[in-house]
Amino acid sequence: MARTSKDRIYASKQDKVEKFVFDQNVAGVFQDMIERSVPGYSALNQLLPIVANQFIKENSNIYDLGCSLGEASISIANTATCKNIKIYAVDNSSAMITKLEDRLKHLQLNVPIKLLDSDVTDVDFKNSSFVILNYTLQFIDRSKRNTLINDIYSSLMSEGAVLISEKICYEDKEEDLIMQQLHENYKRQNDYSDMEISQKREALEDVLVRDTHDQHIDRLKNAGFSKISVLTKYLNFISYLAIK
Ligand SMILES: C[S@@+](CC[C@H](N)C(=O)[O-])C[C@H]1O[C@@H](n2cnc3c(N)ncnc32)[C@H](O)[C@@H]1O
Repeated sequence: MARTSKDRIYASKQDKVEKFVFDQNVAGVFQDMIERSVPGYSALNQLLPIVANQFIKENSNIYDLGCSLGEASISIANTATCKNIKIYAVDNSSAMITKLEDRLKHLQLNVPIKLLDSDVTDVDFKNSSFVILNYTLQFIDRSKRNTLINDIYSSLMSEGAVLISEKICYEDKEEDLIMQQLHENYKRQNDYSDMEISQKREALEDVLVRDTHDQHIDRLKNAGFSKISVLTKYLNFISYLAIK
């Protein structure tokens, strides 16, 4: 795990809550932020190399899209046994990429990780066997999501797979509210104050834009994926495994 300071970004009252961005302040506390905010994050990362190594093939590329501090890339690089594979860790936050670059300097990995400071929608995917989109699609402009998933599908080798993790919303407004409340209780239990929770909620409005479960399934089916499974679900956070 990357070591970062405790997330106190929204701990004091802000006169105007700015839109959430993955800047240097966020990168500096990101590991703590995601572990205390995303239910099931650690469990998913435990599962990730097990799933990845089922699909990774020799002479192929792996893409970690919205890699942040590189948890997924590093765990794959530490465990993959296939020959001649390359991991592309992509993020359009220079702060995240710089921190990941520093992190990699201190690690000895079996597999090369190439960092791309780029929008994931601009990546020219090639010859991929496994693609990770963990908690990233929700930050991408809605109008670009279908094209991104279609491009990932096209680049995948036969029987390659994509792992997608997201915070979802529910058609039923009451159900959505209950799940949001439970998630906020989860954050309270992890030592976030009511003020931190409400200011972060405001900062993320129109920045983290959730799809429903059905929207995710339809998008994956329309792209052509033959098998789509729910890998994990924890409150309103879900991970899908879609196989070509
Ligand atoms: C919630 S974090 C992802 C966490 C990470 N995948 C993990 O498992 O630790 C979302 C990341 O996606 C990146 N991001 C958001 N939109 C992006 C885009 N259009 N292109 C590239 N990266 C993007 C952000 O900079 C951020 O680092």
